[in-house]
Amino acid sequence: MSKLRAAARSGRGLQQGAGDVRKSPRRCRENVSSHKDVLPPVSAQQSAYHLFSHPAEIEAFRKNLLAWYDKCKRDLPWRKLAASESDTNRRAYAVWVSEIMLQQTQVATVIDFYNRWMQKWPTLQALAKASLEDVNELWAGLGYYSRGKRLQEAAQKVVSERAGQMPGTAEELQKLLPGVGRYTAGAIASISYGQVTGVVDGNVIRVLCRVRCIGADSSSPAVGNRLWDLANALVDPARPGDFNQAMMELGATVCTPRAPLCMECPVKHHCRASCRVEKELEFASRRLLGQAASSFPQAPDLEECAAAATGICSLCPPATEPWDSSLGVANFPRRAAKKQPRAERTATCVLERRGHRREPEYLIVQRPSSGLLAGLWEFPSLPWGPEQKEKQQTEALLGHVQAWAGEAVARGCLRYVGEVGHVFSHIHQTYVVYSLLLGGDPEMASGGRDKELERPAFRWVTQAEFQKSAVSTAMKKVWKVFEQQSCEGRGPGKGCKRKRGADPLHVGQLKVEADCSRPLRQLSLEAFLKAPTGE
Ligand code: ADE
Repeated sequence: MSKLRAAARSGRGLQQGAGDVRKSPRRCRENVSSHKDVLPPVSAQQSAYHLFSHPAEIEAFRKNLLAWYDKCKRDLPWRKLAASESDTNRRAYAVWVSEIMLQQTQVATVIDFYNRWMQKWPTLQALAKASLEDVNELWAGLGYYSRGKRLQEAAQKVVSERAGQMPGTAEELQKLLPGVGRYTAGAIASISYGQVTGVVDGNVIRVLCRVRCIGADSSSPAVGNRLWDLANALVDPARPGDFNQAMMELGATVCTPRAPLCMECPVKHHCRASCRVEKELEFASRRLLGQAASSFPQAPDLEECAAAATGICSLCPPATEPWDSSLGVANFPRRAAKKQPRAERTATCVLERRGHRREPEYLIVQRPSSGLLAGLWEFPSLPWGPEQKEKQQTEALLGHVQAWAGEAVARGCLRYVGEVGHVFSHIHQTYVVYSLLLGGDPEMASGGRDKELERPAFRWVTQAEFQKSAVSTAMKKVWKVFEQQSCEGRGPGKGCKRKRGADPLHVGQLKVEADCSRPLRQLSLEAFLKAPTGE
């Protein structure tokens, strides 16, 4: 058993960052206990209002939160593994996988992916041996695909360079493992090794900002550092992993972004935002009852940050954004407005042919190994230039698609199907979906005969194979639009199974202008690129 784990089990814990613990500045000292283990570093512009100053309050906060967690925590597969697995490396791996999957993805979505992942690759060694293709296939649908790839690369590193031994502290995890940042390192170390270190993720930010009325931009590095200090001061040395998960659980299930359930909150009595809401409500109801003049003449006597009046508090909201009573505790956290995702359009074409048993097959091509959706598969696609008109774009797509088709295609055969949007973190992508049914020899429609030309990898897949391939959620949306349109094209009462063997010219939204079932002259890619378009 590792030193850290043993410390966690015995309830001793290893304090992290004890060297960071500094005395508070003189003007706040009357409010701040001198207990050296509980004081976070305090800047001159920060009053005790935004801190947990009293050891007794910290103790009560931990006790209330953990009692609630023990009673209400969700039954999640990685928690079971972390509790039952006796091997430190296996335990750390199980937590690591869950934490990477949980970044930017909801718990409910992650559960199924996690179970399948752990069944397929129960250990670091198993994951290190996996192919990137298999990793991408399993990850497909979780989004932010580079996470899976990096997890696998890091597993390979641990196996090849450290003989399968996971780094043993949060600091080492962060330093040695690609893709592991401060949060993930803290989560792995506290949950699987029992290291006494806090964590700060989006849920924890919300809880901390509310309990201590922190209204400065929570995405700024300075405020981020203060939040880490708070998390490190609060974490329970006896149960650091449970404490951290309880904070995240509270943020996810009770202290939610909108409509938080304050009545169910186990740390309501420690929450300065909630206290403020209650005082305001009390004041409003007294006024309604006509008591204002006698017993409650002015606005309620709110506890406030001592530095707020001076305008130099680094954690108070800016004066331009005062408390909004209609928001209640949801006044916090605040963050600077995010940059809007840029809008892009991409034309994509579902290229279909009949396979050997007349079964429909679709062409998918592999994206480059770096950048957005690296290594995933998609229907042949072309980004739409900002200045491009629709006609130019269709011409360009036609050229692109013909190169893959291995045959000249009349423009009328390219059918407009519809549009579908997908938001990536920084791009609002609209896919303009086309379809093209190839009528020629399936061998010719391989798109791969011009071996001398650099081409991305491609394959023809059935519908079932497409669904199992490493394709993005966006491409699955494209498929849905295509499938829906083909169903509608079949007319009423024909069902929606995609079996179009006897119906080669499915009806699209464009008029059929050419007989696309008859193959045109077969061209090599080079000949094709030199040839005029098929009209
Ligand atoms: N979000 C990320 N990790 C989590 C965990 N271990 N428990 C609850 N929510 C989480």
